[in-house]
Amino acid sequence: MESFATDLPDMRLLPTLLALALLGHTAHAQNPLAIPPALDQDTFDLVVDEHVHQFFPGVNTNTYGASAEYLGPTLILHRGDTANIRVHNQLAQITSMHWHGMHVPGEQDGGPQRIIDPGTVWHATYPVKNPAGTYWYHPHPHELTAEQANMGVAGFIIVRDEEEAQLALPRTYGVDDLPVVVQDRSFVANGNFFFGPYGNTVLVNGTPNPYVDCPAQVVRLRLLNGSNARVYALGFEDGRSFHVIAGDGGLLAAPATTDRLWLSNGERAEVLLDLTGLEGDSLLLMSFGSELPQTVPGANNMLWESSTLNGIDFPVLRIRVTAPTPEAITTIPATLVPQTPPDISEAVRTRTKLITGNGMVGMGMFMINGLMYDLGVINDTMQLGSVEIWDIVNNSNMAHPMHIHGVSFHILERNGQAPPAWEQGPKDVVLVDRFETVRVIMRFTEPSPPEWPFMYHCHNLMHEDNMMMLQYIVTDLSTGAPEGMGTAGSRVFPSPTTGQLTYESATPVQHARLIDALGREVWKAGLQGATTGTLDLGPVPAGTYVLLLHGAAGSTPVRVVKE
Ligand code: C2O
Ligand code: CU
Ligand code: CU
Repeated sequence: MESFATDLPDMRLLPTLLALALLGHTAHAQNPLAIPPALDQDTFDLVVDEHVHQFFPGVNTNTYGASAEYLGPTLILHRGDTANIRVHNQLAQITSMHWHGMHVPGEQDGGPQRIIDPGTVWHATYPVKNPAGTYWYHPHPHELTAEQANMGVAGFIIVRDEEEAQLALPRTYGVDDLPVVVQDRSFVANGNFFFGPYGNTVLVNGTPNPYVDCPAQVVRLRLLNGSNARVYALGFEDGRSFHVIAGDGGLLAAPATTDRLWLSNGERAEVLLDLTGLEGDSLLLMSFGSELPQTVPGANNMLWESSTLNGIDFPVLRIRVTAPTPEAITTIPATLVPQTPPDISEAVRTRTKLITGNGMVGMGMFMINGLMYDLGVINDTMQLGSVEIWDIVNNSNMAHPMHIHGVSFHILERNGQAPPAWEQGPKDVVLVDRFETVRVIMRFTEPSPPEWPFMYHCHNLMHEDNMMMLQYIVTDLSTGAPEGMGTAGSRVFPSPTTGQLTYESATPVQHARLIDALGREVWKAGLQGATTGTLDLGPVPAGTYVLLLHGAAGSTPVRVVKE
């Protein structure tokens, strides 16, 4: 076993946690899997409120839910339609609501800037552009995401489209097409949740010890890891294989057959399971936690917060096979949807996102490019419509599920190798292990002005709330960036300029870079931490650019016209 240095205190011995592990183990009775209602309507209302829910008979647990005691309804959206979702905040604290995986403009993305004050309503509206697939919604308020999601605010979004409708796939919701969100939770003696990185009880759709009746035919499971920190190594107790048909952002080119599927936080996978001829049998979906390396949350790493589920194989969902339905799907399709990732030759830029830091699963201080989240700083500016390659490099002591808002990406390489078949589709979360480099490619098609930036962050919710998050904007650099004014109190003048440009910044500036409309750097200068000075843009060709003033806190984009 490897060991990792840490300066952080050992939190493993929180006494209450040990005493309370029992609650998860007292209820051996099997409970029917809750299936959240699927709503297919023009306008949705999600009422985020406090509730009391009984996960165990007679035990009251304080929860939050979205129009439900725990979790929320499944929203059915149709590609090409307009989504209208009113989010009512009935909590005593602020919230926000993010449409995870959906390609929506920054203004509609529901990130930390889109605060919904207590007692108010946010009406989100956006065209549904994503391909058919499994997406989800959850709150994203600054430093409150983990807690509100832990309390139960989250739900599925299922997008349907014509391409998917052409395929012979199971799609009768709740019958042969099942939402399956896996979460781990801990309960304290009075029945309430203990908030931490790990739980000792597995909940599926909020159900402990769940079983579900499935017809003896091909069934589709829409798997979502909605846990704070735990990664699941999913597979069946009897080792049978299953067929992954979709990842985070829609269908694959063809089903990928496997007997194991890792699902990190925020990731989704749609799998087909062939139950033909198995009527009367029962199968057990498990997480093979004993197979996780020491670097992955959920492993039995002695230096991290403990959980009775860490490092062991445990049941997730019992599947009881019942009689087939009249119009059963009985075959696995050979092909699905052709993939159209951007071509490498289209990329205007490669950025490196370097993860550093050491710590524990629940309380590490991890950084991206040496930076931590600052609501007032734009860390990257992308040209609208441009293609970029990002190398996500993990030099920290553990694996991180990295998520990018506003896009789906394709994985080009994991440590120089092609990713496994089930990862070769559109994605928005990728688990990057210690000392791994994951290379992704994506096209930035959704605009996000400086007021409504997109986030990219670790989807371990503990790390996310601990500032392992940065933000970027997508703009047409020839028209969109704010001319002469940055978001963090910086300004430059005059613009247009014939050469001399004065800058003033609220924070020290280490260097300045000028980016053209294709996202290419055309000029740069070192500024040694000054807060004001003069730049000589004399050698720069005439045109419209974005000037980035980089300081310790990140960079501030300012639009500049050179005459
Ligand atoms: Cu699932 Cu920033 O989000
Ligand atoms: Cu997201
Ligand atoms: Cu992380």
